[in-house]
Parts: sequence; C-alpha cells; structure tokens
Amino acid sequence: MEKITAAITSVGGYVPEYKLTNQILETMIDTNDEWIRTRTGIEERRILKGEGLGTSDLSVEAIKVILNKKGLAPEEIECVICATVTPDMVFPSTGNVICDKLGAKNAFSFDISAACSGFLYALTLGASLIESGRYKNVIVVGADKMSSIVDYSDRTTCIIFGDGAGAVLLERSQDQNGVLDSILKADGSGRDFLHMKAGGSVKPASIETVMAKEHFVYQEGQSVFKFAVKGMADVSYELMQRNNLTADDISWLVPHQANLRIIDATASRMGLPKEKVMINIQKYGNTTAATIPLCLWEWENQLNKGDKIILAAFGGGFTWGASLVQWAYDSKS
Ligand code: UT7
Repeated sequence: MEKITAAITSVGGYVPEYKLTNQILETMIDTNDEWIRTRTGIEERRILKGEGLGTSDLSVEAIKVILNKKGLAPEEIECVICATVTPDMVFPSTGNVICDKLGAKNAFSFDISAACSGFLYALTLGASLIESGRYKNVIVVGADKMSSIVDYSDRTTCIIFGDGAGAVLLERSQDQNGVLDSILKADGSGRDFLHMKAGGSVKPASIETVMAKEHFVYQEGQSVFKFAVKGMADVSYELMQRNNLTADDISWLVPHQANLRIIDATASRMGLPKEKVMINIQKYGNTTAATIPLCLWEWENQLNKGDKIILAAFGGGFTWGASLVQWAYDSKS
C-alpha cells in the first residue's frame, strides 16, 4: 500500500487590530526605537484588547479563514490541535474551547505545550494522525496571547512579544506532497533560562507570587539567544543533509520570529539568500506558537505546488526543531 502523506491544504491567520509600536513603548519604559529595531528587528506588535478574550478567540478567527476558503463546515473537522503557552485556562484545553466556539461538534481536541516550537510539534503530530490513515482532516493552530503573561514594566521582555494566531488544515495528499520530514528536539534543563515561575503545581498562585510578579515570562535573553542561534541553525542544516537538499532546492525558509539576528544566522548556515526567508517580525514581534503559521498565511499567495519549504523554531523548554514541507497547491488559484 502506498504511504499516506499529510498535506497542508489551506492556511489562515489572525492578528488583533491594536498596534503596540516602539514609539508607544518609549512612553512606557526606558527604551528606544533604535535599540529595539537593531537588537530584535521589531517595529510593532499586535495586542488583543477586550475583556474576556483569550487565545481561543484568536484561534477561532484564524480557523474561520480556513473554513471559509475551503467551504468546510465546523462539523466536518475531525481534530483540532492547539499549540500554545497561553491557554485560556489551565484546564480544560484551549483546543476544547476552540471547538465549542467554532461548533466543531465532531472533533476531538487537545493542546500542545512546546513554547515557540509548539507549532512544529503540533504539525508533526497532526501529520502523523493523517498518515496513520485514521483521520481525513486535522486543524493545527499555533496561537498565543503573550500580552497576558508579559510584564509591561520589564523592558527586556515586553518589547519582544505580541499576540496572534495562525492555522493550517492537514488532509491526505493526492500526490505525495506535504509534511515530508521533521526533526524535533527537547532539553528540559533549558527551563532555567526561560519560564514562568509560578502558577503551576510546583508553586501555585498566591498573593506572594502575584506581588513578586512571578506570573510573567522570565527570560535570560543572552543565554537563550546563544542556544537559539545554534539550535535552530543546526537542526535546519541537519534536516537539509538528511534529505539531500542544497540551498538551491529550497524555495523558502520559514523561521520562528524571535529575533532577526537568530533568523539571519540560520539562513546563513543553510546558505539561503534573504529573498528566500519569510520575515514579518517587524510587524508582529514574537507571537510564540503563531509565528510560523502567520508567515505561511502571509506568504500563501507566493507559494507554488512542489515548493520545498523548511520550517524551523527554537523556544522555551528548551524545545526546537525543523520540518520539511513540500507545498501541495498553487495558492494563487
Ligand atoms: O522565542 C523564544 C526564544 N527567545 C529568544 O530566542 C530570545 C533570544 N534573546 C534575544 O533575542 C535577545 O537576547 C534580547 C532581544 C532579549 C536582548 O538583546 P541582547 O542584545 O541580548 O541584549 P542584552 O540583554 O545583552 O542587553 C544589552 C543592554 C543591557 O544594558 P547594559 O547592561 O549593557 O548597560 C540591557 O540593560 O541593553 C539593555 N537593554 C535595553 N536597552 C534599551 C535591555 N533591554 C533594553 C530595552 N531598551 N528594551
């Protein structure tokens, strides 16, 4: 029997309207536009405003784009995997809430917690569900409302993150296009450098943890930077080697948008010119699990059937990885 391949057959994205620009940040903390742009590449990020809105609301908007494009009814969705570190609640999963808000009554759903690599983890898992032959379609959404866990008085983290969601539909490929290979890695000792100190079972929320600002992102930027540059470049290169690919064979690199300098280092290790690298960090900042699908959404019209694309990420955990995707449709049509 021929092996089933899982293809991305549609992409959707959503970013909230409100733009938090570097200029606005200058009025909030001791920073400046020039520092932020040269150290990170970021000019503005989107923030979800509004009482009672969370990651599920960002996700639902991104998924609706897919349903509209494909003429797919919510009841037809078989599985929703949500990659996020900012779930609506500790439990139930944001995937469950998304399905309820969408009316995806026949889907099973769950969350993946792998920080900035979450989308790649979820994509690989979603692809396996299709490849197993048991499921016809899976929606993978990477979404984060980072503004809910960012301390806007901490200039080392608040300049980086933004809110957004991106989603893909996975279906059986008719012609062996799709998710061809993935290398995923994890090293939990990296938690020392990037984590949230309280709110989990080790240190439940208390008045003291709130007063000590322990429910926000804690990051030792320089250490994470060093691991990220090496991790993302190494794994992307390994994926190329393992699939006998040269830079000429690759149409696009879709890197996690954490820092323009990390993206540049990865592209240079792969021997890719900047024209082949999707970069929108200047507009959205680091939206954690959403960066990669948001790029696919924005570049969809430039993608052609058969294009070989490498998706790469590094993030909290540490987690990192790369996936090779052969694009399954001419997106202009
Ligand atoms: O997506 C998840 C994975 N995360 C990452 O990949 C993030 C990786 N890390 C980074 O992107 C960078 O480390 C940062 C963007 C977070 C920071 O950039 P950096 O070049 O590593 O800066 P730094 O932390 O070494 O700080 C350099 C200087 C310091 O001042 P002194 O000690 O040299 O006087 C900081 O206090 O810049 C200062 N600084 C700022 N200045 C203006 C730190 N934040 C700011 C700021 N505005 N917002």
